[in-house]
Amino acid sequence: MEELELYLKDYVDKHSVEVNAPNYLRIYNKMKNGDEINDVLCDIFANIHEKINNVFENLNRRGAGGYFLADDNRYILWLNKFLQELTFMTKDTSYKYEFDSYYQDILNKILVFAKPSFGSNIPDDFPNIKIVNFKPIFNLTHTSFVKTNKSSFQKVLVGAGSYAIVHKYLDKDYDTYFAIKKLKKGYTPKELLRFKNEYEIMRKCKHPNLLRVYKYFEGDASYTMEYCEESIYDYVTRNNTKLSKITRLNLLNQFLNGVGYIHAIGLLHRDLSYGNILITIDSYNNPFLKLSDFGLVKDNNQKFTSTDSSVKGTFRDPCLQSFKDYNFKNEEYAMAYIIIFILYGRQNPKTSDCIYPVIEKCLSSDLEKRYSSLTELRNDLSKFLKEY
Ligand SMILES: Nc1ncnc2c1ncn2[C@@H]1O[C@H](COP(=O)(O)OP(=O)(O)O)[C@@H](O)[C@H]1O
Ligand SMILES: [Mg+2]
Repeated sequence: MEELELYLKDYVDKHSVEVNAPNYLRIYNKMKNGDEINDVLCDIFANIHEKINNVFENLNRRGAGGYFLADDNRYILWLNKFLQELTFMTKDTSYKYEFDSYYQDILNKILVFAKPSFGSNIPDDFPNIKIVNFKPIFNLTHTSFVKTNKSSFQKVLVGAGSYAIVHKYLDKDYDTYFAIKKLKKGYTPKELLRFKNEYEIMRKCKHPNLLRVYKYFEGDASYTMEYCEESIYDYVTRNNTKLSKITRLNLLNQFLNGVGYIHAIGLLHRDLSYGNILITIDSYNNPFLKLSDFGLVKDNNQKFTSTDSSVKGTFRDPCLQSFKDYNFKNEEYAMAYIIIFILYGRQNPKTSDCIYPVIEKCLSSDLEKRYSSLTELRNDLSKFLKEY
Protein backbone atom coordinates (compact mmCIF):
# COMPACT_ATOMS: atom_id res chain seq x y z
CA MET A 1 0.00 0.00 0.00
CA GLU A 2 2.82 2.31 0.85
CA GLU A 3 4.13 2.00 -2.68
CA LEU A 4 0.79 3.09 -4.13
CA GLU A 5 0.59 5.98 -1.70
CA LEU A 6 4.06 7.21 -2.70
CA TYR A 7 3.26 6.71 -6.36
CA LEU A 8 0.12 8.83 -6.12
CA LYS A 9 1.84 11.55 -4.10
CA ASP A 10 4.56 11.67 -6.70
CA TYR A 11 1.91 11.93 -9.40
CA VAL A 12 0.19 14.84 -7.66
CA ASP A 13 3.55 16.62 -7.24
CA LYS A 14 4.34 16.32 -10.92
CA HIS A 15 0.94 16.93 -12.50
CA SER A 16 -1.71 19.45 -11.87
CA VAL A 17 -4.91 17.76 -10.80
CA GLU A 18 -6.89 20.94 -11.24
CA VAL A 19 -10.40 20.66 -12.66
CA ASN A 20 -12.29 23.53 -14.26
CA ALA A 21 -15.77 22.22 -14.93
CA PRO A 22 -17.75 21.68 -11.70
CA ASN A 23 -19.61 18.63 -13.00
CA TYR A 24 -16.42 16.54 -12.89
CA LEU A 25 -15.70 17.69 -9.37
CA ARG A 26 -19.23 16.78 -8.35
CA ILE A 27 -19.00 13.30 -9.85
CA TYR A 28 -15.76 12.34 -8.14
CA ASN A 29 -16.16 14.29 -4.91
CA LYS A 30 -19.14 12.04 -4.37
CA MET A 31 -16.83 9.02 -4.41
CA LYS A 32 -14.58 10.40 -1.71
CA ASN A 33 -14.85 8.64 1.62
CA GLY A 34 -12.24 10.40 3.73
CA ASP A 35 -9.57 7.78 3.02
CA GLU A 36 -6.48 9.56 1.73
CA ILE A 37 -5.53 7.26 -1.14
CA ASN A 38 -9.13 6.91 -2.24
CA ASP A 39 -9.60 10.69 -2.24
CA VAL A 40 -6.39 11.40 -4.18
CA LEU A 41 -7.50 8.86 -6.77
CA CYS A 42 -10.82 10.69 -7.07
CA ASP A 43 -9.00 13.97 -7.79
CA ILE A 44 -6.91 12.28 -10.45
CA PHE A 45 -10.01 10.68 -12.00
CA ALA A 46 -11.83 14.04 -12.15
CA ASN A 47 -8.82 15.65 -13.79
CA ILE A 48 -8.43 12.90 -16.38
CA HIS A 49 -12.17 12.77 -17.07
CA GLU A 50 -12.21 16.47 -17.89
CA LYS A 51 -9.11 16.27 -20.07
CA ILE A 52 -10.17 13.18 -21.97
CA ASN A 53 -13.55 14.80 -22.67
CA ASN A 54 -11.77 17.86 -24.07
CA VAL A 55 -9.79 15.63 -26.39
CA PHE A 56 -12.92 13.70 -27.41
CA GLU A 57 -14.78 16.95 -28.07
CA ASN A 58 -11.93 18.14 -30.28
CA LEU A 59 -12.11 14.85 -32.12
CA ASN A 60 -15.85 15.16 -32.67
CA ARG A 61 -15.44 18.74 -33.86
CA ARG A 62 -12.76 17.85 -36.36
CA GLY A 63 -14.55 14.65 -37.36
CA ALA A 64 -13.56 11.63 -39.41
CA GLY A 65 -10.90 12.52 -41.97
CA GLY A 66 -9.94 15.64 -39.96
CA TYR A 67 -6.73 16.58 -38.22
CA PHE A 68 -5.94 15.33 -34.71
CA LEU A 69 -3.91 17.95 -32.83
CA ALA A 70 -0.35 17.30 -31.65
CA ASP A 71 -1.19 18.11 -28.01
CA ASP A 72 -4.14 15.73 -28.05
CA ASN A 73 -1.97 12.99 -29.59
CA ARG A 74 0.56 13.41 -26.84
CA TYR A 75 -2.09 13.41 -24.13
CA ILE A 76 -3.71 10.19 -25.34
CA LEU A 77 -0.35 8.39 -25.56
CA TRP A 78 0.58 9.60 -22.11
CA LEU A 79 -2.81 8.65 -20.70
CA ASN A 80 -2.64 5.16 -22.10
CA LYS A 81 0.69 4.60 -20.42
CA PHE A 82 -0.47 6.13 -17.17
CA LEU A 83 -3.64 4.03 -17.00
CA GLN A 84 -1.63 0.87 -17.61
CA GLU A 85 0.67 1.84 -14.76
CA LEU A 86 -2.19 2.75 -12.45
CA THR A 87 -4.04 -0.50 -13.15
CA PHE A 88 -0.89 -2.39 -12.30
CA MET A 89 -0.26 -0.39 -9.12
CA THR A 90 -3.81 -0.83 -7.83
CA LYS A 91 -4.65 -4.32 -9.01
CA ASP A 92 -3.96 -6.24 -5.79
CA THR A 93 -5.09 -3.49 -3.49
CA SER A 94 -8.49 -2.39 -2.26
CA TYR A 95 -8.20 0.58 -4.66
CA LYS A 96 -8.78 -1.48 -7.76
CA TYR A 97 -10.77 0.54 -10.26
CA GLU A 98 -12.64 0.04 -13.49
CA PHE A 99 -12.38 2.29 -16.50
CA ASP A 100 -15.49 2.77 -18.65
CA SER A 101 -15.40 0.08 -21.35
CA TYR A 102 -16.80 2.41 -24.03
CA TYR A 103 -14.10 5.00 -23.32
CA GLN A 104 -11.47 2.26 -23.35
CA ASP A 105 -12.74 1.18 -26.71
CA ILE A 106 -12.49 4.72 -28.11
CA LEU A 107 -9.02 5.08 -26.60
CA ASN A 108 -7.94 1.89 -28.36
CA LYS A 109 -9.27 3.22 -31.65
CA ILE A 110 -7.29 6.46 -31.22
CA LEU A 111 -4.12 4.58 -30.32
CA VAL A 112 -4.18 3.07 -33.79
CA PHE A 113 -3.48 6.45 -35.41
CA ALA A 114 -1.97 8.55 -32.58
CA LYS A 115 1.61 9.76 -33.08
CA PRO A 116 4.12 10.86 -30.42
CA SER A 117 5.10 14.07 -32.19
CA PHE A 118 3.11 16.36 -34.51
CA GLY A 119 -0.54 15.77 -35.24
CA SER A 120 -2.15 12.89 -37.08
CA ASN A 121 -5.10 12.20 -39.36
CA ILE A 122 -8.39 10.95 -38.00
CA PRO A 123 -9.40 7.88 -40.06
CA ASP A 124 -12.40 8.22 -42.37
CA ASP A 125 -14.39 5.61 -40.48
CA PHE A 126 -13.77 7.09 -37.03
CA PRO A 127 -17.09 7.21 -35.11
CA ASN A 128 -18.64 10.22 -33.43
CA ILE A 129 -17.95 9.85 -29.71
CA LYS A 130 -20.78 9.90 -27.18
CA ILE A 131 -19.33 12.09 -24.46
CA VAL A 132 -19.98 11.02 -20.86
CA ASN A 133 -20.50 14.13 -18.77
CA PHE A 134 -22.54 13.30 -15.73
CA LYS A 135 -21.41 9.91 -14.54
CA PRO A 136 -18.04 8.49 -13.63
CA ILE A 137 -15.83 6.86 -16.22
CA PHE A 138 -13.70 5.56 -13.36
CA ASN A 139 -15.22 3.44 -10.64
CA LEU A 140 -13.51 2.16 -7.55
CA THR A 141 -14.45 -1.48 -7.15
CA HIS A 142 -12.95 -2.33 -3.78
CA THR A 143 -14.28 -5.36 -2.05
CA SER A 144 -14.55 -5.94 1.67
CA PHE A 145 -17.13 -7.45 4.02
CA VAL A 146 -20.47 -6.47 5.36
CA LYS A 147 -21.65 -7.81 8.70
CA THR A 148 -25.34 -8.24 9.31
CA ASN A 149 -26.74 -9.60 12.57
CA LYS A 150 -26.20 -13.20 11.62
CA SER A 151 -23.45 -13.46 9.10
CA SER A 152 -20.72 -11.72 7.22
CA PHE A 153 -20.94 -11.35 3.45
CA GLN A 154 -18.53 -10.13 0.87
CA LYS A 155 -19.58 -6.73 -0.41
CA VAL A 156 -18.88 -4.98 -3.67
CA LEU A 157 -18.98 -1.24 -4.23
CA VAL A 158 -21.84 -0.27 -6.55
CA GLY A 159 -22.05 3.48 -6.19
CA ALA A 160 -21.28 6.57 -4.22
CA GLY A 161 -22.98 9.89 -3.75
CA SER A 162 -22.01 13.08 -1.97
CA TYR A 163 -22.52 11.68 1.51
CA ALA A 164 -22.62 7.93 1.29
CA ILE A 165 -21.20 4.85 -0.35
CA VAL A 166 -23.31 1.92 -1.46
CA HIS A 167 -22.27 -1.73 -1.65
CA LYS A 168 -24.16 -4.81 -2.69
CA TYR A 169 -23.89 -8.20 -1.07
CA LEU A 170 -25.42 -11.60 -1.64
CA ASP A 171 -27.33 -12.71 1.42
CA LYS A 172 -27.01 -16.46 1.30
CA ASP A 173 -29.97 -17.01 3.62
CA TYR A 174 -32.27 -15.40 1.08
CA ASP A 175 -30.14 -16.08 -1.98
CA THR A 176 -30.79 -12.46 -2.92
CA TYR A 177 -28.72 -9.35 -3.41
CA PHE A 178 -29.21 -6.49 -0.98
CA ALA A 179 -27.63 -3.06 -0.94
CA ILE A 180 -26.15 -1.32 2.07
CA LYS A 181 -25.70 2.43 2.22
CA LYS A 182 -23.15 3.79 4.64
CA LEU A 183 -22.39 7.36 5.53
CA LYS A 184 -18.89 8.43 4.47
CA LYS A 185 -16.28 8.84 7.18
CA GLY A 186 -15.97 12.22 8.81
CA TYR A 187 -19.69 13.01 8.76
CA THR A 188 -21.05 15.80 10.91
CA PRO A 189 -23.82 15.31 13.52
CA LYS A 190 -26.13 17.18 11.16
CA GLU A 191 -25.33 14.79 8.31
CA LEU A 192 -25.99 11.82 10.59
CA LEU A 193 -29.36 13.28 11.52
CA ARG A 194 -30.23 13.78 7.89
CA PHE A 195 -29.14 10.24 7.06
CA LYS A 196 -31.35 8.76 9.78
CA ASN A 197 -34.22 10.94 8.66
CA GLU A 198 -33.76 9.71 5.08
CA TYR A 199 -33.98 6.12 6.33
CA GLU A 200 -36.95 6.74 8.60
CA ILE A 201 -38.98 8.49 5.94
CA MET A 202 -38.20 5.84 3.32
CA ARG A 203 -39.04 3.15 5.87
CA LYS A 204 -42.52 4.62 6.32
CA CYS A 205 -43.20 4.73 2.59
CA LYS A 206 -44.52 1.78 0.67
CA HIS A 207 -45.06 2.03 -3.05
CA PRO A 208 -43.89 -0.15 -5.96
CA ASN A 209 -41.92 2.79 -7.38
CA LEU A 210 -40.09 3.68 -4.19
CA LEU A 211 -37.00 1.85 -3.05
CA ARG A 212 -37.67 -0.32 0.03
CA VAL A 213 -35.30 0.12 2.92
CA TYR A 214 -34.92 -2.52 5.61
CA LYS A 215 -32.74 -2.18 8.67
CA TYR A 216 -30.78 0.66 10.20
CA PHE A 217 -27.49 -0.10 11.97
CA GLU A 218 -26.96 2.51 14.67
CA GLY A 219 -23.30 1.89 15.44
CA ASP A 220 -22.38 1.83 11.82
CA ALA A 221 -24.41 4.71 10.29
CA SER A 222 -25.67 2.39 7.58
CA TYR A 223 -28.89 0.79 6.40
CA THR A 224 -29.85 -2.07 4.15
CA MET A 225 -32.26 -1.78 1.24
CA GLU A 226 -33.39 -3.60 -1.87
CA TYR A 227 -30.72 -3.85 -4.53
CA CYS A 228 -31.24 -2.40 -8.01
CA GLU A 229 -29.07 -3.40 -10.95
CA GLU A 230 -28.60 0.08 -12.34
CA SER A 231 -29.55 3.73 -12.31
CA ILE A 232 -31.98 5.12 -14.86
CA TYR A 233 -29.01 6.87 -16.42
CA ASP A 234 -27.24 3.57 -17.09
CA TYR A 235 -30.39 1.76 -18.10
CA VAL A 236 -31.53 4.31 -20.68
CA THR A 237 -28.02 4.98 -21.99
CA ARG A 238 -27.31 1.28 -22.38
CA ASN A 239 -30.61 0.59 -24.15
CA ASN A 240 -31.25 3.88 -25.88
CA THR A 241 -31.42 2.42 -29.37
CA LYS A 242 -33.47 -0.58 -28.26
CA LEU A 243 -36.12 0.88 -25.96
CA SER A 244 -39.62 0.79 -27.40
CA LYS A 245 -42.01 3.69 -27.00
CA ILE A 246 -44.22 1.50 -24.86
CA THR A 247 -41.37 0.72 -22.46
CA ARG A 248 -40.48 4.41 -22.26
CA LEU A 249 -44.07 5.40 -21.58
CA ASN A 250 -44.31 2.68 -18.99
CA LEU A 251 -41.17 3.99 -17.24
CA LEU A 252 -42.53 7.52 -17.39
CA ASN A 253 -45.73 6.32 -15.81
CA GLN A 254 -43.83 4.56 -13.04
CA PHE A 255 -41.81 7.71 -12.44
CA LEU A 256 -44.91 9.88 -12.20
CA ASN A 257 -46.64 7.34 -9.96
CA GLY A 258 -43.66 7.31 -7.57
CA VAL A 259 -43.48 11.10 -7.45
CA GLY A 260 -47.29 11.26 -7.14
CA TYR A 261 -47.17 9.01 -4.10
CA ILE A 262 -44.55 11.01 -2.22
CA HIS A 263 -46.26 14.30 -3.01
CA ALA A 264 -49.61 12.90 -1.89
CA ILE A 265 -48.17 12.05 1.55
CA GLY A 266 -46.68 15.51 1.97
CA LEU A 267 -43.09 14.94 0.85
CA LEU A 268 -40.92 16.65 -1.73
CA HIS A 269 -37.90 14.70 -2.91
CA ARG A 270 -35.74 17.75 -3.77
CA ASP A 271 -33.06 15.68 -5.52
CA LEU A 272 -34.69 13.87 -8.42
CA SER A 273 -31.77 13.04 -10.68
CA TYR A 274 -30.55 10.33 -13.05
CA GLY A 275 -28.48 8.76 -10.25
CA ASN A 276 -31.23 8.80 -7.65
CA ILE A 277 -33.71 6.89 -9.78
CA LEU A 278 -32.91 3.20 -9.93
CA ILE A 279 -34.00 0.33 -12.12
CA THR A 280 -34.45 -3.30 -11.24
CA ILE A 281 -35.19 -5.83 -13.96
CA ASP A 282 -37.19 -9.06 -13.76
CA SER A 283 -36.29 -12.29 -15.55
CA TYR A 284 -38.46 -11.27 -18.50
CA ASN A 285 -36.44 -8.07 -18.92
CA ASN A 286 -39.15 -5.71 -17.66
CA PRO A 287 -37.76 -2.61 -15.94
CA PHE A 288 -39.15 -1.44 -12.60
CA LEU A 289 -38.40 2.09 -11.56
CA LYS A 290 -37.60 3.01 -7.95
CA LEU A 291 -37.12 6.49 -6.54
CA SER A 292 -34.27 6.48 -4.04
CA ASP A 293 -31.96 8.70 -2.00
CA PHE A 294 -34.31 10.73 0.16
CA GLY A 295 -31.34 12.58 1.68
CA LEU A 296 -32.73 16.00 0.79
CA VAL A 297 -36.39 15.16 1.33
CA LYS A 298 -38.67 17.87 2.65
CA ASP A 299 -41.40 16.59 4.91
CA ASN A 300 -44.28 19.02 5.07
CA ASN A 301 -45.78 16.98 7.91
CA GLN A 302 -42.95 17.93 10.19
CA LYS A 303 -43.39 21.30 11.83
CA PHE A 304 -39.73 21.89 12.33
CA THR A 305 -37.83 21.14 9.19
CA SER A 306 -34.34 22.32 8.43
CA THR A 307 -33.85 26.03 8.09
CA ASP A 308 -30.91 25.48 5.78
CA SER A 309 -31.30 27.88 2.90
CA SER A 310 -28.45 26.95 0.54
CA VAL A 311 -29.89 25.22 -2.51
CA LYS A 312 -28.70 21.63 -2.99
CA GLY A 313 -29.44 18.79 -5.40
CA THR A 314 -28.49 17.94 -8.95
CA PHE A 315 -30.95 19.93 -11.07
CA ARG A 316 -31.03 23.24 -9.25
CA ASP A 317 -33.89 25.47 -10.19
CA PRO A 318 -32.47 28.97 -10.84
CA CYS A 319 -35.79 30.40 -9.60
CA LEU A 320 -35.27 28.93 -6.14
CA GLN A 321 -33.68 31.38 -3.74
CA SER A 322 -33.82 29.45 -0.51
CA PHE A 323 -33.88 25.66 -0.18
CA LYS A 324 -36.41 25.76 2.63
CA ASP A 325 -38.94 27.40 0.28
CA TYR A 326 -38.74 24.44 -2.12
CA ASN A 327 -42.20 23.53 -3.39
CA PHE A 328 -43.90 21.55 -6.16
CA LYS A 329 -42.89 24.10 -8.82
CA ASN A 330 -39.22 23.48 -8.04
CA GLU A 331 -39.68 19.72 -8.11
CA GLU A 332 -41.30 19.96 -11.54
CA TYR A 333 -38.18 21.74 -12.78
CA ALA A 334 -36.08 18.62 -12.04
CA MET A 335 -38.87 16.37 -13.31
CA ALA A 336 -38.64 17.98 -16.76
CA TYR A 337 -35.07 16.69 -17.14
CA ILE A 338 -36.10 13.19 -16.11
CA ILE A 339 -39.16 13.12 -18.37
CA ILE A 340 -37.12 14.10 -21.45
CA PHE A 341 -34.40 11.62 -20.53
CA ILE A 342 -36.84 8.73 -20.17
CA LEU A 343 -38.69 9.51 -23.40
CA TYR A 344 -35.77 10.51 -25.63
CA GLY A 345 -32.55 9.52 -23.82
CA ARG A 346 -31.42 13.13 -24.02
CA GLN A 347 -29.97 15.21 -21.24
CA ASN A 348 -30.79 18.54 -22.81
CA PRO A 349 -34.48 19.17 -22.19
CA LYS A 350 -34.70 22.12 -24.57
CA THR A 351 -35.53 20.59 -27.91
CA SER A 352 -38.37 20.57 -30.33
CA ASP A 353 -40.49 17.51 -29.83
CA CYS A 354 -44.16 16.92 -29.21
CA ILE A 355 -44.00 17.40 -25.44
CA TYR A 356 -41.90 20.54 -25.59
CA PRO A 357 -44.80 22.81 -24.58
CA VAL A 358 -44.99 20.82 -21.32
CA ILE A 359 -41.26 20.96 -20.73
CA GLU A 360 -41.19 24.67 -21.48
CA LYS A 361 -43.80 25.26 -18.80
CA CYS A 362 -41.96 23.10 -16.23
CA LEU A 363 -38.75 25.04 -16.82
CA SER A 364 -40.29 28.47 -17.24
CA SER A 365 -38.46 31.25 -15.43
CA ASP A 366 -41.86 32.73 -14.72
CA LEU A 367 -43.16 30.57 -11.87
CA GLU A 368 -46.73 31.61 -12.67
CA LYS A 369 -46.44 29.75 -15.97
CA ARG A 370 -45.43 26.46 -14.38
CA TYR A 371 -47.95 23.77 -13.42
CA SER A 372 -49.20 24.04 -9.91
CA SER A 373 -49.96 20.37 -9.39
CA LEU A 374 -48.86 17.00 -10.65
CA THR A 375 -52.38 16.28 -11.90
CA GLU A 376 -52.23 19.37 -14.10
CA LEU A 377 -48.81 18.34 -15.41
CA ARG A 378 -49.93 14.77 -16.10
CA ASN A 379 -53.08 15.87 -17.91
CA ASP A 380 -51.14 18.14 -20.20
CA LEU A 381 -48.48 15.48 -20.77
CA SER A 382 -50.99 12.89 -21.86
CA LYS A 383 -52.50 15.42 -24.28
CA PHE A 384 -49.18 16.12 -26.00
CA LEU A 385 -48.02 12.51 -25.79
CA LYS A 386 -50.70 11.56 -28.35
CA GLU A 387 -48.15 12.67 -30.95
CA TYR A 388 -45.29 10.66 -29.38
N1 LIG B 1 -30.32 0.16 -3.66
C1 LIG B 1 -29.34 0.36 -4.53
N2 LIG B 1 -29.00 -0.58 -5.42
C2 LIG B 1 -28.00 -0.35 -6.31
N3 LIG B 1 -27.29 0.80 -6.40
C3 LIG B 1 -27.59 1.77 -5.55
C4 LIG B 1 -28.62 1.63 -4.57
N4 LIG B 1 -28.70 2.78 -3.86
C5 LIG B 1 -27.77 3.59 -4.38
N5 LIG B 1 -27.10 3.02 -5.39
C6 LIG B 1 -26.01 3.62 -6.18
O1 LIG B 1 -25.21 4.40 -5.31
C7 LIG B 1 -25.23 5.78 -5.70
C8 LIG B 1 -25.24 6.64 -4.45
O2 LIG B 1 -26.35 6.37 -3.66
P1 LIG B 1 -27.26 7.54 -3.12
O3 LIG B 1 -28.33 6.93 -2.26
O4 LIG B 1 -27.74 8.37 -4.25
O5 LIG B 1 -26.21 8.32 -2.20
P2 LIG B 1 -26.02 9.90 -1.90
O6 LIG B 1 -27.03 10.22 -0.84
O7 LIG B 1 -24.63 10.02 -1.37
O8 LIG B 1 -26.26 10.61 -3.19
C9 LIG B 1 -26.49 5.93 -6.56
O9 LIG B 1 -26.35 6.97 -7.48
C10 LIG B 1 -26.57 4.57 -7.22
O10 LIG B 1 -25.73 4.52 -8.35
MG1 LIG C 1 -27.64 10.43 -4.70
